[in-house]
Amino acid sequence: MSPTLLALETSCDETSASVISGGKILANIIATQEIHAQYAGVVPELASRNHDLYITSVVQEALNQSTKSLHNLDAIAVTQGPGLLGALLVGNTFAKGLAWSLSIPLIGINHLQAHISALFIDNPNPSFPIITLLVSGGHTQLIKVSSHTDFELLGQTIDDAAGEAYDKTAKLLGLPYPGGQHIDRLAKMGNPLAFIFPEPKVPGFDFSFSGLKTSILYFVNNQKQQNPEFVNQNLHDLCASIQHTINSYLSKKLIKAIQHTQPKGIAIAGGVSANSDLRTKISQLGNQMGLEVLIPKSEYCTDNAAMIAMAAHFAYTEKRFIGLDSIPFTRG
Ligand code: KG4
Ligand code: ZN
Repeated sequence: MSPTLLALETSCDETSASVISGGKILANIIATQEIHAQYAGVVPELASRNHDLYITSVVQEALNQSTKSLHNLDAIAVTQGPGLLGALLVGNTFAKGLAWSLSIPLIGINHLQAHISALFIDNPNPSFPIITLLVSGGHTQLIKVSSHTDFELLGQTIDDAAGEAYDKTAKLLGLPYPGGQHIDRLAKMGNPLAFIFPEPKVPGFDFSFSGLKTSILYFVNNQKQQNPEFVNQNLHDLCASIQHTINSYLSKKLIKAIQHTQPKGIAIAGGVSANSDLRTKISQLGNQMGLEVLIPKSEYCTDNAAMIAMAAHFAYTEKRFIGLDSIPFTRG
């Protein structure tokens, strides 16, 4: 079966549309809402309004790029949750309207599962099971992936997500929101061992990041009392050290899960998997342990509709459709 599907993603601050045909991504258009940077975080009402503003042109551009028309579509897929309610409603209502007017099925996709489906875009037939570190702005999870659609949660953060740890520490260094990519860029010129921060201690496969954020906050404030220019003078080393602490902690938990489950492969997914140091660390780890390594292209790490389309391809094959009376959900 080679279904042609249109997929929409509007769960947070990216308005995105993708077209997939026979499991191949033909277009992935992403409109990032820059407006939130000035508020140092996503403002839900502005996100909804901007999705409404962009969605028609983003869908049109995806169709144009794919050279498909609405009448070529076999189903419409949309992120059903988790995410911001108002933001999700824009994509869901748009998707329902299209599915209804074209008389084709509607597919509801879980955003977190879609981040994992991103692994299969450029690697459709990996060896299973794969231990996946799903690291985004809202979630940090270790997942055992046993097939394209069989995902088992092994552990997750008990407080902040890894992306929040990046964004909140970036904010206290005076960097723009979202800060993860800025830490990544500045860390390239810094010494990762310049400052040592305590690693969080949580048993098993769970994570914690709130203590780390607090200890960095106290450390930076103390140093600033002695030298108000401390952050500016040490910005590269601070970024490199923070990044090293977060990524080493993530890697250690991944190693623990590998030892426990003996997988065939390892993977990272979600926005933080765009981090260049984490990508290197995970590749090296896989090579050392003789495991297949799956890392999505950067455009498939942060929020995008191609991952929704990939997840929808498998859902379509299994005929997992939802009714036009389905509503979005906000929590994972
Ligand atoms: O998956 P995503 O786009 O949205 C959610 O579903 O949350 O993840 C966004 C998160 C943000 O916290 C952002 O700072 C982080 O991914 N991020 C990065 C990098 N690029 C994005 N963190 C570290 N290094 C990066 N290069
Ligand atoms: Zn996401």
